[in-house]
Amino acid sequence: MPVGEGLDTEELKRLVHQDCGSCHGLTLKGGLGPDIRPETLTHYEPDILETVILDGIPDTPMPPWRPLITQEEAQWIALYLLNGDAQ
Ligand code: HEC
Repeated sequence: MPVGEGLDTEELKRLVHQDCGSCHGLTLKGGLGPDIRPETLTHYEPDILETVILDGIPDTPMPPWRPLITQEEAQWIALYLLNGDAQ
């Protein structure tokens, strides 16, 4: 099953731009949080990025999203960021 099938991807895109964007900038090039455009995420494997999204980064303002989204949704967001579709 392709990643994203059965997910509300319009809702996930809204979350990335509104909620992630509130810290990372609406175009994701940085704000309170760092630039998370694909060229700055090249050192991330998709599954590591998925874990960062699910668990956040301890002792920083980067929050864990596990209470709000499923693992499958985090995987979709990770690929959305890495593929540059979010720009
Ligand atoms: C409350 C503000 C805030 C929100 C909301 C937020 N982040 Fe972050 N994020 C941060 C901060 C601050 C850091 C940097 C943490 C550090 O100092 O390492 C960060 C780091 C990251 C990193 C690591 C970047 C790197 O270069 O290693 C990724 C990836 C990331 N965020 C993705 C997301 C995604 C995806 C969302 C939405 C699901 C999101 N963030 C929502 C504040 C936020």
